[in-house]
This record gives sequence, C-alpha cells and structure tokens, in this order.
Amino acid sequence: MSLDSYVSLGRSGLRVSPLTLGTMTFGEDHGWGASVEESEAILAEYLERGGNFIDTANIYTNGHSEKIVGDWFAARAGLRDRVVIGTKFFANLFEGDPNGGGAGRKSIVAALENSLRRLRTDYIDIYWLHNWDRTAPIEETLRTLDDLVTAGKIRYVGLSDLPAWKAAEAQVTARLRGWAPAIGLQVEYSLLERTSEGELIPMAQELGLGVMPWSPLKSGLLSGKYSRRRPGSVDTLRGGLVGGPSEKDYDVIDVLERVAQEAGTTPAAAALAWVRQRPGVTSTLVGARRVDQFRANLASLDVHLTDAQMAALDEVSDPPLNFPAENNRLLAPSLAFAGATVDGVHSSVLPMLTASSARY
Ligand SMILES: NC(=O)c1ccc[n+]([C@@H]2O[C@H](COP(=O)([O-])OP(=O)(O)OC[C@H]3O[C@@H](n4cnc5c(N)ncnc54)[C@H](OP(=O)(O)O)[C@@H]3O)[C@@H](O)[C@H]2O)c1
Repeated sequence: MSLDSYVSLGRSGLRVSPLTLGTMTFGEDHGWGASVEESEAILAEYLERGGNFIDTANIYTNGHSEKIVGDWFAARAGLRDRVVIGTKFFANLFEGDPNGGGAGRKSIVAALENSLRRLRTDYIDIYWLHNWDRTAPIEETLRTLDDLVTAGKIRYVGLSDLPAWKAAEAQVTARLRGWAPAIGLQVEYSLLERTSEGELIPMAQELGLGVMPWSPLKSGLLSGKYSRRRPGSVDTLRGGLVGGPSEKDYDVIDVLERVAQEAGTTPAAAALAWVRQRPGVTSTLVGARRVDQFRANLASLDVHLTDAQMAALDEVSDPPLNFPAENNRLLAPSLAFAGATVDGVHSSVLPMLTASSARY
C-alpha cells in the first residue's frame, strides 16, 4: 500500500490517498503544535510520497494551519490543483458575534471567504460541516453548501461529528432535493474509541459517505510512547492536554505492543494499520507534531495485520455499543435467515424455530 494507491471518497469521483494529512498540529497557537518549518517539512514529505489529501479547519491554530498550507502552495505554481484540500466551518473565531460561526447561511459564506483568503486559493475541494449546529435548520446549511458548489467555490461537501440520525437526515434531504450530497464523514475512531461502529459507520456505508477516522492514535496514547513497561516521563506536548492512558487503555496498549512486535513494526504503525483495515474506512487522518513522528506513521502503509492479529486487537478493544447494535448483529440475522448464510453473514437457528418450518 502506498500514498498513491488512491481510493474514491464515498459515492463520488474524487480520488484521495488512503492516509490524509491532518494539519491540526500545524502552527503553535494552541500550544501543542509544530513550527512553520516543521509543518512544511511534514507537508513536503507527504507530497513527495504521493499523498494528495490535506485536511485543515478554520479553527486549527486559529487560522494559522490554513495559512501555512496556503503559503506553501502559493509558493509552488501549479501544485495546488494537483491536491485535494479540505477545510471546515462551524467554529466561531469572532468573540461575541452570534453569526461568526455555526452552520447558518451568513456565517458559512463568511467563513468560506476567510478560509479561501488564508488558503490563498479560489476553491475548496471538500468543505466540511465541522460539528452539528442544533440551532440552524439542516436545510439551510445544505442549500447554502449546494449554492457554493454551483458558484464553483467548493467542489464537494463533507460532514463531521454529527449524530448519525442528523447525518442521515441531511444526506437523504440532499438527495431528495437534488442538492450536492455529502461524500465523506469524519469520526473519531481508534482502538480506544470504537463507538462509531454502532451507528455512524454503518450509516456512512449505507449512504455513500467515505469514513475518515480522526485521532487514530487517540491523540498519541496509541503512539507507543505510553507503556506499562516504561513508566516515567513521556515525550509529548499533547499528553498534558488529554491525560495519560487509563488501566483499561493499557490493556489495549499491551496487546498492541505484542501485535506490533509480532508484525515487526511499531505500535503507532500497527494502530494505524488496524484503523485502515477496519470495514468502511476510506482514508485515515494522520497527525504528527514532528517529521520523525510522521515518517513513523507513514510506515503503517507497509503493515498488513493478519486475521489473527486483527482479531486479537478487535477483542481487547471491543466496545459496548448502544441499542440496537448488538440486537442487529446477533439476533436479527438468525430471525431473518434461519440458519442460512446470506451475503457472508452466518446465522444460527433459534431454538424456538427448530423444526418449525411454518407449521401454521
Ligand atoms: N473532524 C474533527 O472533529 C477532527 C478532530 C480532531 C482531529 N481531526 C483531524 O484528524 C487529524 C489527526 O488527529 P490527531 O492529531 O488527533 O491524531 P492522532 O494521531 O491521534 O494524534 C496525533 C498526536 O499524537 C502524537 N504522535 C503522533 N504520531 C506519533 C508517533 N509516531 N510517535 C509518537 N507520538 C506521535 C503527537 O502528539 P505529541 O507528540 O504531542 O504527544 C501528535 O500530535 C488532525 O490533524 C485533523 O486534521 C479532525
């Protein structure tokens, strides 16, 4: 697997790398990011390896992340059109202004103009609704985004961090109205955060949204720097913000270390390979504070975990999911298929149905 083994994002003709360059760490404004020089070195490494998908947001380092990306491409004629740049709206960067953020028409249009200015480009390839705005009607958000597609200011629409029911409403509404549908869904997803397997990921697969996991290393907890066997100080800036792993997290980290050793790789690369190999995942958002970390993460492209290794990691990190996930996984196939195997789903025969064969 390599960065130029491109994949289509959701039900669309947009082709992207299997690892997306996350730039939330670009710029030092939040206190745990990379300098301009380090950020540029990460960007250069990614592009040299064939990467084509860059993810930023208006809020990342208060706009500095977008500016670093914009300055880079502005200095290299012709390169911008060769890459896919995604940015996000929602965060309000204007204290006290109720229309400075959110997902209403006025704020979206203004946020886009500001992002285009910082990114020094005429268009955004994929414009993400960063979070759910519970006060703005979803029709208003979708219609505005569709207008921006028509105006040529954005190419595609993406959804991030929405409840599954709201994302499904948005997607079906867009389809029925003939508006630009969303093609991607950003969700937090890692060995330490798997609850999106209950609703969000199946919803995305059903509705043509490519799943893009963020914080695949759980903000560094799965990067290999935390280990039961190596307590003591840890090389991290983010760690102070997120805290260290819990006892339960260490159970997962223990198995991750064993699997990584068996696969001849690092825990970070194994954790990223696990995310990449999970069903429904299209492109994983990879973040790093330094170029050496980034290179270590790109090494995950060379890792293919065996079924047994995947199963060991699946088992130790298995999350309790909200109803009706378990019901649908275990009971529903038996009720519907009565012991037959359909589309690769095996079902058992429920005891109360044994030998019943439609008796009445
Ligand atoms: N849609 C959303 O709401 C949303 C939310 C969050 C992120 N995102 C996107 O997802 C991207 C990735 O998220 P993330 O930055 O949280 O990813 P992550 O991989 O979970 O965490 C990245 C952090 O882990 C540490 N790290 C990474 N690789 C390492 C390595 N090889 N060795 C040691 N430490 C390592 C670094 O922090 P330290 O060195 O300081 O410990 C780095 O800043 C972001 O850039 C952004 O584009 C989207």
